[in-house]
Amino acid sequence: MRINKFLADKGIASRRHADEMISAGRVKINGVIATLGASVEETDEVTLDGQPIAQTEKKEEYYIMNKPKGVVCTVSDDRGRKTVMDLLPEGVGRVFPVGRLDYATEGLLILTNDGDMAFRLTHPKTEIPKTYMAKIEGTLTEKDLNPIRSGIELDGVLTKKCKAHIVETNKAYTKVHVTITEGKNRQVRRMFEAIGKNVEFLKRVSIGQLKLSGLDRGQMRPLTAEEIAYLKGL
Ligand code: URA
Repeated sequence: MRINKFLADKGIASRRHADEMISAGRVKINGVIATLGASVEETDEVTLDGQPIAQTEKKEEYYIMNKPKGVVCTVSDDRGRKTVMDLLPEGVGRVFPVGRLDYATEGLLILTNDGDMAFRLTHPKTEIPKTYMAKIEGTLTEKDLNPIRSGIELDGVLTKKCKAHIVETNKAYTKVHVTITEGKNRQVRRMFEAIGKNVEFLKRVSIGQLKLSGLDRGQMRPLTAEEIAYLKGL
């Protein structure tokens, strides 16, 4: 098995975070610094920062959090900013965020130690609809949203067709629900920037059928068995 999948299966980090740990030389296999893509057997001794990784089966944990703004979605931040890990209540095991919400964005975030689920949910092929409530400065019309619906060029690639509709509009601001099926960096903000609009506030309100409702900012709760089964079936 690849070392990054091994670490994800053990609930240490998502595969991407595991790659970062490996590149930083923090992971050893039988005492030798692991390289990206190295293979590992269950009988090998794997350490992270010198600590052996337990070979026992882990218990899977799944949470939904209402991420507040001003918090980064990483396990540790090289700029010393507050991370979602700082918000975990006592008793929550070693979980990591599934995908990212940017620093200024709030809303629905899944945290788990299930590396396979994290991998599937964030894989571009999975195309799960994610809905955001975006508050835009000034007035907008439904017609203004057409370029966003049909595709905006970001980093030289067109964004996929998406849904967007106005929820409320007045002279000061417009609230728009946007549903995208991909996860480019700062995608919603950049789609609005491309049509000359500034996103003042952005919140993810759902991932597929999973809804944020009922959680205050910074709060989290375990996912129900039904919610876990739903996400595993995606
Ligand atoms: N789009 C953004 O602009 N930011 C996010 O965090 C998610 C989607």
